[in-house]
Amino acid sequence: MSSAQHLTIVSGASRGLGRAMAELLAAQPGHRVLGLSRQAPPAPAGIEQWAVDLADPLPVAARLQAWLGSLAPDQFASATLINNAALVTEPQPLADSEPAALSAAVRVGLEAPLLLSAAFLRATRGWPGVRRVLHISSGLGRRGMASTGPYCAVKAGLDNLARAQVLEEALQPNGAKVCSLAPGVIDTDMQVQLRGANPAAFPDIEAFQQMKSGGKLDTPAAAAAKVLRYLQRADFGSHPVGDVRDA
Ligand SMILES: NC(=O)c1ccc[n+]([C@@H]2O[C@H](COP(=O)([O-])OP(=O)(O)OC[C@H]3O[C@@H](n4cnc5c(N)ncnc54)[C@H](OP(=O)(O)O)[C@@H]3O)[C@@H](O)[C@H]2O)c1
Repeated sequence: MSSAQHLTIVSGASRGLGRAMAELLAAQPGHRVLGLSRQAPPAPAGIEQWAVDLADPLPVAARLQAWLGSLAPDQFASATLINNAALVTEPQPLADSEPAALSAAVRVGLEAPLLLSAAFLRATRGWPGVRRVLHISSGLGRRGMASTGPYCAVKAGLDNLARAQVLEEALQPNGAKVCSLAPGVIDTDMQVQLRGANPAAFPDIEAFQQMKSGGKLDTPAAAAAKVLRYLQRADFGSHPVGDVRDA
């Protein structure tokens, strides 16, 4: 059987960075892409979309594991999970935030990547090709910012999850390569939300407004190309935490 295919699962593939990565991957010959998001917009050829809510990640992880288990491992030269979906809650102090919104941010941004990683690694254990897990992190996982506590916590969690995963996968035969990568700043709905926050509740709002007015934001397509180049590096996974801006 041919092993020419590359399989990539991208969470949050309906818009923004995830959509751009899914489209770039699907345009390459031999790539099969599965996108996971609540909305499932019409997908170009090569992208399969599941309309799933990652705020309820247990059934999605179970479905992913079963689906991977139904595939023929020898068919794939590589299998990659990109944990990209995340959300920012309304920027404001923790004490003023809606408990349900805080809970959803952590479930989508951290619990889902953890469960999807576990399902992916379990289902692809023993697969002969290259196995990779990429968490999309943020500079805010590496420093704090007032009124974005849930996001900072989620991204710091992904970074430290990657550190632990790198250590344990190194002990496995054909262990997965794992990295938690900051993708730069990107002109997506997430930035719109940050710029549109209540200035009285978000001391750093001007920095986000200036990045937009100063033309500092990457387009989703440009950011996706940088992230995918990083993913293709021969040393991918040798540093558990990275930033495309240092590449
Ligand atoms: N934009 C930036 O400047 C920036 C900077 C650093 C890091 N990042 C990171 O880059 C990644 C992509 O961000 P982005 O800017 O592209 O964000 P975005 O435009 O807001 O897109 C977020 C994606 O996540 C999905 N998502 C959100 N809630 C979900 C849920 N409950 N279930 C399933 N999917 C859900 C959305 O799909 P649905 O709404 O269809 O569910 C969407 O596809 C995120 O991890 C973000 O933290 C972004």
